[in-house]
Amino acid sequence: MRAIDWTDGTTERPGHIRLLDQSLLPQSETVLEIDTVDDLIDAIKRLAVRGAPALGVAGALGVALAVQNLDPAEVDKAIDKLRVARPTAVNLALGVDLARAARPDGAAAVLAAALKVRDDDIAASSAMAKHGAALLGEILSDSAASSARLMTICNTGGLAAVERGTALGVVQEMHLTGRLKQAIALETRPLLQGSRLTAWELLQMGAPFDLIVDSAAASILAAGGADAVLVGADRIAANGDTANKIGTFALALAADYAGVPFIVVAPESTVDTQTASGAEIDIEDRGSTEVAEIRGMRLAPEGIAAANPAFDVTPAKLITAIVTDKRVIRPDRGDRPDQPL
Ligand code: MRU
Repeated sequence: MRAIDWTDGTTERPGHIRLLDQSLLPQSETVLEIDTVDDLIDAIKRLAVRGAPALGVAGALGVALAVQNLDPAEVDKAIDKLRVARPTAVNLALGVDLARAARPDGAAAVLAAALKVRDDDIAASSAMAKHGAALLGEILSDSAASSARLMTICNTGGLAAVERGTALGVVQEMHLTGRLKQAIALETRPLLQGSRLTAWELLQMGAPFDLIVDSAAASILAAGGADAVLVGADRIAANGDTANKIGTFALALAADYAGVPFIVVAPESTVDTQTASGAEIDIEDRGSTEVAEIRGMRLAPEGIAAANPAFDVTPAKLITAIVTDKRVIRPDRGDRPDQPL
C-alpha cells in the first residue's frame, strides 16, 4: 500500500486519510484510518507519518479533511495548527498552503488540490529516480556506475513519500537496472528510521545491503567502502544549504574527507527560496525521551537531560549535487537552487 493516501467516502463513512503507522514498523504493519485533523496532527508529531514529501501530502489531505468535516468557523484554526505540527520540512506548510488556496472554490476543489499534491509527488519520485541514476552514470567511474555501493541515512523511500521516495528511490532505480552492488544504510539514531524503515524497504526490494551504526560511516567511507552518499532533504535554502536528518552533516564531512560524491535528492517542493541560508532553518527539538529511551525501555540513567535536535544543516559547499524532479543543481560548480529553472 501507499505510505499515505485518501479513501473516498461511502454511505457509512466520509472520505478520510489512510496511512501505514511507521512508528510501529517493522514489527507491525498497522493501518491508521484518520478522520480528524487532531488525529492527523498526533500521527505527524509521533512520526506515524514522516519524511518531507509524505508530510506535504499529509498537510494537503489534512486541509481536505478539515474543510469536509469541521464547522467553517473552526477550519482556519485547525489548518493553522496542522501547518506547524513539525517545523523543519517545508513540504508540510507548502502542502497545507496549496490545498488551502482552493478553499474559495469549495470542498471538492480543496480535495482535488490535495490529490494533485499527492499525484505530483508520485511523478516527482519517478523523475528523481531517473535523474539520480543518470547522474551516477555521469560522475562515477564506469566500474562503480555499473556496480555501485551507495550509502544512505534515515528513510527516504516510499514510506517517506507516497511511492518510491527520493534518495532511496535512486537506490531502487539502480537496483532495478542491475547497477547496485550494495546499499549501506545508517541505522539513524535516535528513532532508527534506517534500521526500522530503510532496511524494511530494501528487503522488500530484494536489494543487497548492509545496515551499519551511524558511527561506522566515516571509517567505511575513508576506507573506500562506498562510491557515493545519497541523502534526502527536509528544506533546501536558496544558497543550497540543506537540512536533513541529524547525522547528515557528519556524513557530508566524512564524504568530503574521503573524496566521495555527496548527493542530495529531493523534489522541487523541498526547495525553499524564501529561506536565504541554512542559518534560518528552524531545527525541530524533540526532547530528551527519544534519546534516553527506546520504545519505552530506559537506556540512560533517570534524571539526565539529553539534547535531541532532529535535523542538521549541511552547508552547500559540501554538496556535490542536488537532484530534483526538474533539474540537477551543482553546488560544487557554484550553482544555487534560487537560479531560474
Ligand atoms: O524525522 P523524519 O523521519 O521525518 O526525518 C526524515 C528525513 O530527514 C528525510 O531524510 C527527509 O524528510 C527526506 S525524505 C524523502
